[in-house]
Amino acid sequence: MQELAGKVAFVTGGASGLGLAMVRAFAAAGMKVVVADVEQAALDAVIAEFAPSNADLLAVRVDVTDRAAMAAAADQAEAAFGRVHVLCNNAGVGVGGSIETMSYADWDWVLKVNLDGVVNGVQTFLPRMLAHGEGGHIVNTASMAGHVGAPGLSVYNTSKFAVVGLSESMRQDLAPRGIGVSVLCPGVVRTNIFSSGRNRPATLAAETDTAGAVLAHDVEGADRTARIQSLLDGGLDPALVGEMVVHAIQTDECYIFTHPELGAASAARATQIADAYTRWTSWREQQSTG
Ligand SMILES: NC(=O)c1ccc[n+]([C@@H]2O[C@H](COP(=O)([O-])OP(=O)(O)OC[C@H]3O[C@@H](n4cnc5c(N)ncnc54)[C@H](O)[C@@H]3O)[C@@H](O)[C@H]2O)c1
Repeated sequence: MQELAGKVAFVTGGASGLGLAMVRAFAAAGMKVVVADVEQAALDAVIAEFAPSNADLLAVRVDVTDRAAMAAAADQAEAAFGRVHVLCNNAGVGVGGSIETMSYADWDWVLKVNLDGVVNGVQTFLPRMLAHGEGGHIVNTASMAGHVGAPGLSVYNTSKFAVVGLSESMRQDLAPRGIGVSVLCPGVVRTNIFSSGRNRPATLAAETDTAGAVLAHDVEGADRTARIQSLLDGGLDPALVGEMVVHAIQTDECYIFTHPELGAASAARATQIADAYTRWTSWREQQSTG
C-alpha cells in the first residue's frame, strides 16, 4: 500500500510501546487509527495525547483473546471510519524462566495473547478486508524470538515462532488478493513489555514470579530489576520502529528486522541447520552403501 493518507488502521496493544509507536506513525501519515487495548488507563492517556490534534482516533477497550469482543471492536471501527485497511496484530505479553518452571497458566496466558490474539485478529478482519476490495496490509508482531530459540524463553519462543510461520504462509495466500503481510521481528525495544504481568488475568495468575522476566530470567531480585533496566536502556526507541512499520507497509516488506545486527543470530541458526542436513546426508549415504 503506497498511499496511507485517509486509510484506516486498527492496532491491537496500541496504547503502549510498539503499538503506540505505530499509532503515532500512522496518525502522522494521515491515517485514521483505531487504538485497541485491554488497559483502560493507557487508552485514556492516548485519548488525552491526541485530543489537541483533532486526529481521527478511536480508542476501544478490547481483549484480543475474546473473539466476540474483537468482532464488536471491528464493528465499532467500521461504524466510526468505514473500512479497515491496515491491521496490526501487535498485543503481546511475555514470561521468562527455564522450561521446568513454566506452569500451564504461563503457557495458556502467553499463547492466548501472543498467538490466539493474532489468529483472532486475522479471523475477525480478513473477511472484512477481502469484502471491501480496496486492498490492505496486515502486520503481525513476532520478535527475534520468532527466529532464534533462547534459554529461558520457551513459552515466548513458541508463540513467536508460530507468528512468523503464520505470517510467511498467509503472505503467500493473500498476495494475489491485494493484501500484503509483514511480520515485525524486534530485538529489545524500550517499552513496558517487562511489566506485561500488569495485564495478566487473575484466572491465569502466575505460580512463580515470571511476570517481568522476559530476557531476564537468569537473575533474581534487585539484580533482575537492574538487568531489566540495563536492557531497556540499551533498547531501541519505539518511534523508529513505528516508522519502519510504515515503510514496510508502503514497500510490502515481509520481514521487519529492527536490529540488523541480530542477523548474525539468524545466520548462526541457518548454519546449524545446514550442518545438520550435511550430517544426515552422510548418514543416509552410509546406510545405503553399508
Ligand atoms: N519491547 C520489546 O523489546 C519487544 C521485542 C520483541 C517483540 N515485542 C513484541 O511487541 C509487541 C508489543 O509489546 P511492547 O514491547 O510494546 O509491550 P507493551 O507492554 O509496552 O505493550 C503491549 C500492549 O499490549 C496490551 N495487551 C496486553 N494483553 C492484551 C490483551 N489480552 N488484549 C489487548 N491488549 C493487550 C497491553 O495493555 C499493552 O498496551 C508484543 O507482541 C511483544 O511480544 C516486543
